[in-house]
Amino acid sequence: MEENKLIRPEIEDVQEERLENSLRPQNLDEYIGQTKVKENMKIYIEAAQKRGEPLDHCLFYGPPGLGKTTIANIIANEMKSNIKITSGPAIEKPGDLAAILTALSEHDVLFIDEIHRLSKNVEEILYPALEDYTLDIVIGKGPSAKSIRIDLPKFTLIGATTKAGSLTTPLRDRFGIVHRLELYSTEDLSTIIKRSSQILKIEIDEESAIEIARRSRGTPRIANRLLKRVRDYAAVLGDGTINLKIAKHALNQLEIDELGLDEIDRKILETMITQYQGKPVGIESIAVSIGEEIDTIEDVYEPYLIQIGFITRTPRGRLVMPPAYKHLGYPYLG
Ligand SMILES: Nc1ncnc2c1ncn2[C@@H]1O[C@H](COP(=O)(O)OP(=O)(O)OP(=O)(O)O)[C@@H](O)[C@H]1O
Ligand SMILES: [Mg+2]
Repeated sequence: MEENKLIRPEIEDVQEERLENSLRPQNLDEYIGQTKVKENMKIYIEAAQKRGEPLDHCLFYGPPGLGKTTIANIIANEMKSNIKITSGPAIEKPGDLAAILTALSEHDVLFIDEIHRLSKNVEEILYPALEDYTLDIVIGKGPSAKSIRIDLPKFTLIGATTKAGSLTTPLRDRFGIVHRLELYSTEDLSTIIKRSSQILKIEIDEESAIEIARRSRGTPRIANRLLKRVRDYAAVLGDGTINLKIAKHALNQLEIDELGLDEIDRKILETMITQYQGKPVGIESIAVSIGEEIDTIEDVYEPYLIQIGFITRTPRGRLVMPPAYKHLGYPYLG
């Protein structure tokens, strides 16, 4: 479904990836929002540079589209280091990781996206590499096998994950810097939209930027995507300039409601209200009822529904809150 694809924060296609790269901020000052993360990183980066050491290993986690890849690139930039980019699923065997590690140069940044998806035996290679910049490899088989130790250049690992909970404790403990990226405020998103508009040479007024921001689910990737779609409407229905009327019309046509909710959000909430009578319900039951993956609900949908106060987590399960009833037009019976 169209509206579904729009709101899903995963990258859609090659074209979108290209757009994303063109909109990626290059340094910390251009990185909007996430003030705490930025302030901390500035200090860590400066301190590492003063000592002439590589930055501590960093882990960033949070829902998709919030800027994990972006901040990894920025850190490498600010450290004036080269960045090598790979991902958990791309590293199949311990040998793959060994090859990547031995090819690094002093102070390089290694970015591993979806780091929670590293296999156990690959992960074990990483432990000594992170701790003492060494690589233990076994050569040969059977009784004649011997283990040799190779020194690695001092590098910085930056890990990104949407699921910090799936990381093993030994891996998580080896990151000196751990930051959670938060969903963005409407204000920050509208700043991002205005920045993107400038880069893409789109004319947009303040209130339209806010309107798009409000419907972007706290997610820069969605904000940029909606901006692009609204621009198409502006080009066809007007003179290309985005004003509030066109923005609202376009967003309504795209079936993105006032709060940025889509079909699946509504299904989740409606199921909780009607099928479970507003009682606490487990994520597994919700997933079965609406026919979605648990992971998708937890990573993509739930963070925003929690942020806007439509759902809370209780020890007995997820609870749907009064504002959700109101938004969907159900009476709240308490
Ligand atoms: N703080 C920010 N300021 C401005 N633009 C941002 C910011 N964070 C993200 N963006 C924009 O949002 C888009 C998505 O960001 P990014 O690819 O870094 O997300 P991500 O967290 O790596 O997502 P995923 O988990 O899906 O890999 C990029 O095009 C980037 O330009
Ligand atoms: Mg990414």
